[in-house]
Amino acid sequence: MIQKPKGTKDVLPDEIDLWNYTEARACDIFENYGFKEIRIPTFEYTELFERGVGDTTDVVQKEMYTFDDKGGRSITLRPEGTAGIVRSFIENGISSKPLPFKVYYAMPMFRYENVQKGRYREFNQIGAEIIGTASYLADVELISLADKLLKKLNINDIYLSLNSIGCPECRAKYQKALKEFIGKNINKYCDTCKSRFEKNPMRILDCKEKKCKELNQGAPVILDYLCDECKEHFENVKKGLDYLGISYAVDSSIVRGLDYYTKTVFEFISKTDGYTVLAGGRYDGLVKELDGPDTPAVGFAAGEERLNSLIPKEDIPSFPLDMYLVSMDEKFDIETMKLANDLREYLAVQTNISSRSFNAQMKYANKINAEFTIVIGEDEIKNKKCKIKQMETGKEELSKLDSESILNVIFEKFDDEF
Ligand code: HAM
Repeated sequence: MIQKPKGTKDVLPDEIDLWNYTEARACDIFENYGFKEIRIPTFEYTELFERGVGDTTDVVQKEMYTFDDKGGRSITLRPEGTAGIVRSFIENGISSKPLPFKVYYAMPMFRYENVQKGRYREFNQIGAEIIGTASYLADVELISLADKLLKKLNINDIYLSLNSIGCPECRAKYQKALKEFIGKNINKYCDTCKSRFEKNPMRILDCKEKKCKELNQGAPVILDYLCDECKEHFENVKKGLDYLGISYAVDSSIVRGLDYYTKTVFEFISKTDGYTVLAGGRYDGLVKELDGPDTPAVGFAAGEERLNSLIPKEDIPSFPLDMYLVSMDEKFDIETMKLANDLREYLAVQTNISSRSFNAQMKYANKINAEFTIVIGEDEIKNKKCKIKQMETGKEELSKLDSESILNVIFEKFDDEF
């Protein structure tokens, strides 16, 4: 038997209501904040991610699905959405349109990761980007949008960690001090940290290894190195969040795993399982880095699998089948299907397409949770009348055998229950 590739999953019809629910809620909230959906290619030229996400990051060094296409070009399945959206912003000349450009997306992403609970190789992100404003207000609006999304999905056991990693100027000074501190003990760090020391020392603060965490105790803190502008920006973001009643904890160990971040970075972390459910930050240098005009931006993405695992199951609306039409005998099958087709203008209807016996059809209608059944046989066809049965209550009502009459009877006689 051929199995699905490691780290992928099937979303079966049983689970689809949950996925549709999350995406529909997210879409409503994004639209209320004035964002429009964007769709970008699933694959891009590899260079976009090498330059955009950063060639010292785990994502680029270890996790990309990269291959040469038949024309010999290096192609990569997108590991995240931000670089592609910035590419699209530049390529489509959007900087000459009214800014900020506010977009959202729900798209699959691909990373060759160590597969474990909550970590897949093909996963879905729901995200939002605001391109074209340097104001702290954009950070606050975006974080408040993320907060609203989680609250509307009833994901409450969660906290917000906030940090600023400054701009390239203040970060350079900080990295010098950090390297001096870490350099004293670099031989005692894990191999990953050692390999990050030269090019990406801040990621060492992110290491989950116990010994590295201990060695990091007392390390210089980025917030002490922020330049006046970055400091003011961060203070304003915090004040804005305070004013909107969004609680957060400043955590100077939040550095994020992608190179493009500047100033504000944040993560919403689940208390239930410790996962980062939603994360993002400002990326003021990325548009320019990718050869566009110097344009500040801020964004976030949430892991949809992680969101879905935290949504209370009782919140998920399910959509049972409205009606099953039972054909008494195969000679009525096609007339039954005609009536089903008429009713499908208004209701979700199934009928016999498996040559099942009468009894087997009744059992099937029960199993698939049909709200109503109508049996079509000799008498029904001859008299042009039928009985509509509500399966749960057993209540039956007579109707003429046409779609409009059936619909009227359902609304008039079953209205309360339906
Ligand atoms: P990220 O932190 O790499 O950021 O991913 C955002 C979220 O995607 C994570 O917090 C997590 O919930 C989910 N996620 C990441 N990797 C996996 C995986 N292998 N399996 C399941 N879920 C995963 C970004 O991707 C940035 N583009 C976010 C952003 C947008 N920053 C600015 N704008």
